[in-house]
Amino acid sequence: MSRLALGILGSGKGSNCRAILEQIRAGKLAADARLIISDVFAAGILDIAREFGVPNVYLPPGRFRTRLEPQVEMELVRMLQGAGVELVVLAGFMRVLKEQILAAFPRRIINLHPSLLPKFPGMEAWAQALAAGEKVTGCTVHYVDAGIDSGEIIAQREVPIAPGDTPEILHARIQIAERELYPEVIGRFCGG
Ligand code: GAR
Repeated sequence: MSRLALGILGSGKGSNCRAILEQIRAGKLAADARLIISDVFAAGILDIAREFGVPNVYLPPGRFRTRLEPQVEMELVRMLQGAGVELVVLAGFMRVLKEQILAAFPRRIINLHPSLLPKFPGMEAWAQALAAGEKVTGCTVHYVDAGIDSGEIIAQREVPIAPGDTPEILHARIQIAERELYPEVIGRFCGG
Protein backbone atom coordinates (compact mmCIF):
# COMPACT_ATOMS: atom_id res chain seq x y z
CA MET A 1 0.00 0.00 0.00
CA SER A 2 1.39 3.41 -0.88
CA ARG A 3 2.08 5.78 1.97
CA LEU A 4 0.40 9.16 2.16
CA ALA A 5 2.86 12.02 1.63
CA LEU A 6 2.43 14.67 4.34
CA GLY A 7 3.62 18.26 4.48
CA ILE A 8 3.40 19.59 8.05
CA LEU A 9 3.25 23.32 8.83
CA GLY A 10 3.67 24.78 12.31
CA SER A 11 4.68 27.92 14.18
CA GLY A 12 5.23 26.56 17.69
CA LYS A 13 6.61 23.82 19.83
CA GLY A 14 5.38 21.01 17.61
CA SER A 15 3.96 18.51 20.10
CA ASN A 16 1.27 17.48 17.62
CA CYS A 17 3.86 17.09 14.89
CA ARG A 18 5.85 14.86 17.24
CA ALA A 19 2.77 12.72 17.91
CA ILE A 20 2.27 12.24 14.15
CA LEU A 21 5.95 11.38 13.55
CA GLU A 22 5.92 8.91 16.46
CA GLN A 23 2.87 7.13 15.03
CA ILE A 24 4.58 6.91 11.64
CA ARG A 25 7.75 5.56 13.23
CA ALA A 26 5.74 2.99 15.21
CA GLY A 27 4.17 1.76 11.97
CA LYS A 28 0.69 2.86 13.08
CA LEU A 29 0.23 5.49 10.36
CA ALA A 30 0.79 4.63 6.68
CA ALA A 31 2.23 8.04 5.90
CA ASP A 32 5.55 9.73 5.19
CA ALA A 33 6.40 13.20 6.43
CA ARG A 34 8.03 14.68 3.34
CA LEU A 35 8.57 18.22 4.57
CA ILE A 36 8.11 20.27 7.74
CA ILE A 37 7.83 24.02 7.31
CA SER A 38 7.71 26.84 9.85
CA ASP A 39 7.21 30.58 9.57
CA VAL A 40 9.08 30.98 12.90
CA PHE A 41 12.86 30.59 12.77
CA ALA A 42 13.32 29.22 16.30
CA ALA A 43 10.15 27.10 16.41
CA GLY A 44 10.46 23.80 18.26
CA ILE A 45 8.73 22.04 15.38
CA LEU A 46 11.89 22.51 13.29
CA ASP A 47 14.00 20.88 16.02
CA ILE A 48 11.57 17.96 16.03
CA ALA A 49 11.92 17.68 12.24
CA ARG A 50 15.70 17.46 12.62
CA GLU A 51 15.38 14.93 15.44
CA PHE A 52 13.26 12.67 13.20
CA GLY A 53 15.39 13.32 10.10
CA VAL A 54 12.59 15.00 8.15
CA PRO A 55 13.54 17.68 5.58
CA ASN A 56 12.63 21.04 7.06
CA VAL A 57 12.47 24.66 6.02
CA TYR A 58 12.16 28.02 7.73
CA LEU A 59 9.95 30.15 5.49
CA PRO A 60 10.30 33.90 6.25
CA PRO A 61 6.66 35.01 6.17
CA GLY A 62 7.10 38.56 4.88
CA ARG A 63 5.65 41.78 6.17
CA PHE A 64 2.15 40.67 7.24
CA ARG A 65 1.29 39.49 10.74
CA THR A 66 -1.59 37.11 10.14
CA ARG A 67 -0.93 35.73 6.65
CA LEU A 68 1.93 35.03 4.29
CA GLU A 69 3.16 37.47 1.70
CA PRO A 70 1.57 36.34 -1.62
CA GLN A 71 4.91 35.41 -3.20
CA VAL A 72 5.83 33.50 -0.03
CA GLU A 73 2.59 31.53 -0.26
CA MET A 74 3.47 30.75 -3.89
CA GLU A 75 6.89 29.54 -2.77
CA LEU A 76 5.20 27.39 -0.13
CA VAL A 77 2.98 25.76 -2.79
CA ARG A 78 6.02 25.15 -4.97
CA MET A 79 7.89 23.47 -2.10
CA LEU A 80 4.94 21.27 -1.11
CA GLN A 81 4.29 20.22 -4.71
CA GLY A 82 8.01 19.66 -5.30
CA ALA A 83 8.08 17.28 -2.33
CA GLY A 84 5.07 15.39 -3.72
CA VAL A 85 2.89 16.30 -0.75
CA GLU A 86 -0.67 14.90 -0.91
CA LEU A 87 -2.04 16.15 2.42
CA VAL A 88 -1.08 19.46 4.05
CA VAL A 89 -1.31 19.17 7.84
CA LEU A 90 -1.46 22.37 9.89
CA ALA A 91 -0.11 21.67 13.38
CA GLY A 92 -0.14 24.94 15.29
CA PHE A 93 0.39 27.05 12.16
CA MET A 94 -0.68 30.54 13.18
CA ARG A 95 -1.29 32.20 9.83
CA VAL A 96 -4.35 32.26 7.61
CA LEU A 97 -3.88 30.56 4.25
CA LYS A 98 -5.13 32.25 1.11
CA GLU A 99 -6.40 31.38 -2.34
CA GLN A 100 -3.18 30.20 -3.97
CA ILE A 101 -2.55 27.31 -1.62
CA LEU A 102 -6.26 26.53 -1.15
CA ALA A 103 -6.62 26.17 -4.94
CA ALA A 104 -3.50 24.01 -5.18
CA PHE A 105 -4.70 21.56 -2.48
CA PRO A 106 -8.52 21.42 -2.63
CA ARG A 107 -9.87 19.52 0.43
CA ARG A 108 -6.29 18.47 1.07
CA ILE A 109 -5.42 20.92 3.85
CA ILE A 110 -6.49 20.11 7.38
CA ASN A 111 -6.16 22.01 10.64
CA LEU A 112 -6.34 21.21 14.32
CA HIS A 113 -8.05 23.71 16.60
CA PRO A 114 -8.25 23.68 20.42
CA SER A 115 -12.02 24.10 20.82
CA LEU A 116 -15.28 22.50 19.78
CA LEU A 117 -15.78 24.58 16.65
CA PRO A 118 -17.80 26.54 15.65
CA LYS A 119 -17.34 27.73 19.24
CA PHE A 120 -14.26 29.82 19.97
CA PRO A 121 -12.40 30.25 16.68
CA GLY A 122 -9.22 32.32 16.68
CA MET A 123 -6.49 32.74 19.25
CA GLU A 124 -6.20 30.99 22.64
CA ALA A 125 -9.46 29.11 22.20
CA TRP A 126 -8.95 27.32 25.53
CA ALA A 127 -8.86 30.66 27.38
CA GLN A 128 -11.98 31.78 25.51
CA ALA A 129 -13.84 28.64 26.64
CA LEU A 130 -12.72 29.16 30.23
CA ALA A 131 -13.75 32.83 30.23
CA ALA A 132 -17.17 31.89 28.81
CA GLY A 133 -17.80 29.58 31.79
CA GLU A 134 -18.05 26.42 29.69
CA LYS A 135 -18.06 23.04 31.44
CA VAL A 136 -16.82 21.16 28.38
CA THR A 137 -14.53 22.14 25.54
CA GLY A 138 -12.33 20.06 23.26
CA CYS A 139 -10.54 19.98 19.94
CA THR A 140 -11.55 19.88 16.29
CA VAL A 141 -9.95 18.71 13.06
CA HIS A 142 -11.37 20.49 10.04
CA TYR A 143 -10.73 21.22 6.39
CA VAL A 144 -9.15 24.61 5.83
CA ASP A 145 -11.06 27.22 3.87
CA ALA A 146 -10.50 30.95 3.40
CA GLY A 147 -12.04 31.84 6.79
CA ILE A 148 -10.63 31.59 10.29
CA ASP A 149 -11.21 28.09 11.69
CA SER A 150 -14.41 27.91 9.63
CA GLY A 151 -13.93 24.94 7.28
CA GLU A 152 -15.97 21.73 7.29
CA ILE A 153 -15.53 19.74 10.50
CA ILE A 154 -14.01 16.25 10.15
CA ALA A 155 -13.81 15.12 13.78
CA GLN A 156 -14.03 16.42 17.33
CA ARG A 157 -13.14 15.24 20.80
CA GLU A 158 -14.60 16.60 24.03
CA VAL A 159 -12.45 17.58 27.01
CA PRO A 160 -13.96 18.42 30.43
CA ILE A 161 -13.24 21.72 32.15
CA ALA A 162 -12.59 21.23 35.87
CA PRO A 163 -13.26 23.77 38.63
CA GLY A 164 -10.05 25.70 39.29
CA ASP A 165 -8.59 25.10 35.83
CA THR A 166 -6.13 27.74 34.69
CA PRO A 167 -5.71 28.44 30.97
CA GLU A 168 -2.41 26.52 31.05
CA ILE A 169 -3.86 23.45 32.76
CA LEU A 170 -6.84 23.39 30.40
CA HIS A 171 -4.69 23.80 27.29
CA ALA A 172 -2.46 20.93 28.44
CA ARG A 173 -5.53 18.70 28.89
CA ILE A 174 -6.81 19.64 25.43
CA GLN A 175 -3.41 18.89 23.94
CA ILE A 176 -3.53 15.32 25.28
CA ALA A 177 -6.76 14.84 23.31
CA GLU A 178 -5.28 16.59 20.26
CA ARG A 179 -2.31 14.24 20.14
CA GLU A 180 -4.68 11.27 19.96
CA LEU A 181 -7.24 12.76 17.60
CA TYR A 182 -4.96 14.25 14.92
CA PRO A 183 -3.00 11.09 14.01
CA GLU A 184 -6.27 9.11 14.05
CA VAL A 185 -7.88 11.52 11.56
CA ILE A 186 -4.78 11.57 9.34
CA GLY A 187 -5.04 7.78 9.31
CA ARG A 188 -8.45 8.13 7.64
CA PHE A 189 -6.77 9.85 4.67
CA CYS A 190 -4.24 7.04 4.32
CA GLY A 191 -4.93 4.12 2.05
CA GLY A 192 -7.70 5.75 0.04
C1 GAR B 1 -2.34 23.29 19.45
O1 GAR B 1 -2.99 23.31 20.68
C2 GAR B 1 -3.30 23.64 18.33
O2 GAR B 1 -4.59 23.20 18.58
C3 GAR B 1 -3.21 25.14 18.31
O3 GAR B 1 -1.86 25.41 18.52
C4 GAR B 1 -1.31 24.42 19.36
C5 GAR B 1 0.01 23.95 18.75
O4 GAR B 1 0.71 23.13 19.65
N1 GAR B 1 -3.68 25.65 17.06
C6 GAR B 1 -4.44 26.74 16.93
O5 GAR B 1 -4.78 27.43 17.87
C7 GAR B 1 -4.84 27.06 15.50
N2 GAR B 1 -5.90 28.03 15.47
P1 GAR B 1 1.96 22.30 19.18
O6 GAR B 1 2.91 23.24 18.47
O7 GAR B 1 2.55 21.76 20.46
O8 GAR B 1 1.46 21.19 18.27
